Amino acid sequence: MNINKHYAELADSYLFSTVARKAAEFQKANPDREVIKLSIGDVTLPLAKCVVEAMHKAVDEMGTAEGFHGYGPEQGYDFLKDAVRDYYAGHGVNLKSGEIFISDGAKSDLANVLGLFDVNNTVLVPDPVYPTYVDDNVSDGRKVIYAKCDESNNFLPMPDPNVKADIIYICSPSNPTGAVYTPEQLKVWVDHANATGAVILFDAAYECFVSEPGLARSIFEVEGARTCAIEICSFSKIAGFTGTRCGYTVVPEELEREGRSLHQMWLRRQTTKFNGVPYIVQRGAAAVFTESGMAEIQHNLDYYRRNAQVIGKALEEAGVWFCGGKNSPYLWMKCPGGMTSWEFFDYLLEKTGVVGTPGSGFGPCGEGYFRLTAFGNAEKTKIAAELLKKAIMEL
Ligand code: MLT
Repeated sequence: MNINKHYAELADSYLFSTVARKAAEFQKANPDREVIKLSIGDVTLPLAKCVVEAMHKAVDEMGTAEGFHGYGPEQGYDFLKDAVRDYYAGHGVNLKSGEIFISDGAKSDLANVLGLFDVNNTVLVPDPVYPTYVDDNVSDGRKVIYAKCDESNNFLPMPDPNVKADIIYICSPSNPTGAVYTPEQLKVWVDHANATGAVILFDAAYECFVSEPGLARSIFEVEGARTCAIEICSFSKIAGFTGTRCGYTVVPEELEREGRSLHQMWLRRQTTKFNGVPYIVQRGAAAVFTESGMAEIQHNLDYYRRNAQVIGKALEEAGVWFCGGKNSPYLWMKCPGGMTSWEFFDYLLEKTGVVGTPGSGFGPCGEGYFRLTAFGNAEKTKIAAELLKKAIMEL
């Protein structure tokens, strides 16, 4: 037999596993020191009350003959797909419920959706970017090329007419830099994809953090996107479902390549390889879109936004360049004193017990940068921000 040789091309360990291991080693060696994690983008607030109530109710239903649910529709229950459709409509985007496929989270579908495409395709990813895009494609054997991001393009790359790619990833608001495209900028990508036949995979996991006007929350705000884009989103960040697992993928009916409907192919894929998200979880997710659910969710998002302000203020006071944190839970800072990303990671951990994520883990262009997340506990974030400021100013 032959195993998948492409796994040998991956780094030994996934970025966030390496960071978690290093933090755990430090804690073990220093049991009396407090370690504060501003590293992985995992939420800390509990699930909203309306979500918990909806899930309790669903559990009770499942224990009755009338309310029991066995296998559900692989693409999700109508009540949740309709709720997602209405959420998009609230932002001026018209989708059909049938174009929304409920998933167990964005990370799984970001990998699964690649099954629609041949391994001979070339994939364009921004650099730096959420590392799973690269790992998913490298492990399948696809060629990955990079759209370089830096301060000169505000970490928002635009299409290069000389670069040909079949699959294009866009993450906006960006993980890790927090940069957000305007609809006008996305229109340039959409026109490029329609002209070249490429398909855009749009990761909208952080759309709920967009709060300033003039910025896009969905690629489907842009005319022409329905013939070139798939959007992948998650309940993890909007509603704290990192451990509950639910997301959705939008595949428009008009999306076709080589005469085949990608929408139909995805439906075929899901009905064959997926048995759907648990009824109880989908009921919880649907509660997010009720009036009281949205109010609770906004309250939680504001808590994280305040954390971002606290970290941003500390960085400003320390005189360090950074971006993000305004329409995103991530702050992307330049490492002080010309340090590399991992040098700063080690310095900060040793000196303060604060854990961040080295920018170089998101791609070569991330070298010399460092990512901090606003998803932490507010009190601990305040302490971490003060420690961070002090550690930088002592350099
Ligand atoms: C991150 O820290 O980049 C994210 O939490 C990763 C994820 O959502 O899978």
